[in-house]
Amino acid sequence: MSAVFEVKNLKRSFGGLVVTNDVSISMAPGDRVALIGPNGAGKTTFVNLVTGTIPPSSGEVRLGGETVTKVDAIGRVRRGLVRSFQVTRLFQDMTPAEHVGLAVLQRSGRAGRLFGSFLTMPDVMAEVSELLEKLGLAELAHRKVSEIAYGQQRLLEIAVALALKPKVLLLDEPAAGVPQSDTGRIEQALADLPKDLAVLMIEHDMDLVFRFAKRVIVLAAGTIIFDGLPADVTKDARVREAYLGSYAHASHVA
Ligand SMILES: Nc1ncnc2c1ncn2[C@@H]1O[C@H](COP(=O)(O)OP(=O)(O)O)[C@@H](O)[C@H]1O
Ligand SMILES: [Mg+2]
Repeated sequence: MSAVFEVKNLKRSFGGLVVTNDVSISMAPGDRVALIGPNGAGKTTFVNLVTGTIPPSSGEVRLGGETVTKVDAIGRVRRGLVRSFQVTRLFQDMTPAEHVGLAVLQRSGRAGRLFGSFLTMPDVMAEVSELLEKLGLAELAHRKVSEIAYGQQRLLEIAVALALKPKVLLLDEPAAGVPQSDTGRIEQALADLPKDLAVLMIEHDMDLVFRFAKRVIVLAAGTIIFDGLPADVTKDARVREAYLGSYAHASHVA
């Protein structure tokens, strides 16, 4: 199948430090890719570059065949590239229904409407209810985010991302900080993602990686050192070396 998301020779330095070093990745609809690598490998920077949060030093990002390297972050969301954040960025005083409702309005170009009024728009509320239901958050729809558990906040982030109707979804450590007892619900949400969506997930929990991913990409010091099948990744000499190096520096595997 043809690529829905392509990154070609992406580079980025901070001062003298090369954080993204000639990275090229291609994804087709329905792909399930895990991006792993030691702490500081450049995974979050990669997401920041491709989503337009920070500009690359050089290289190209393509969405659905269109070059978007000069398109801003909102323009990329509109074209179907959506991310979730490693650290949750929800508004503590807003409810799940309001978060998802605003995302639906943004997607449908109605974000200028007076805040709150969408609660009376039947088409928006139908979509909000369906998404919250799907992620098991229906009963919390009108509670404040500050009152719901962290695992449920992470699920809400996925609901917000889906409300934007992505073609490519980038998830930065969706299970990070979630207690073990709640990771099953995150995993179920990932398993239930639309089949034709291309998903790239950054994750350090290798059990989750192996259950989710059909393909694993390993980043070390800004460079892709492995791109292949999950079954082959732990056998790879360069991958082992990269992780051993990170253990020697007492970093965690992420
Ligand atoms: N805005 C920035 N300015 C300077 N250095 C940065 C910046 N963002 C990230 N870095 C550095 O880039 C490297 C990769 O960071 P990051 O992408 O967060 O790695 P990962 O997500 O794989 O843990 C780290 O050495 C980090 O300190
Ligand atoms: Mg990171």
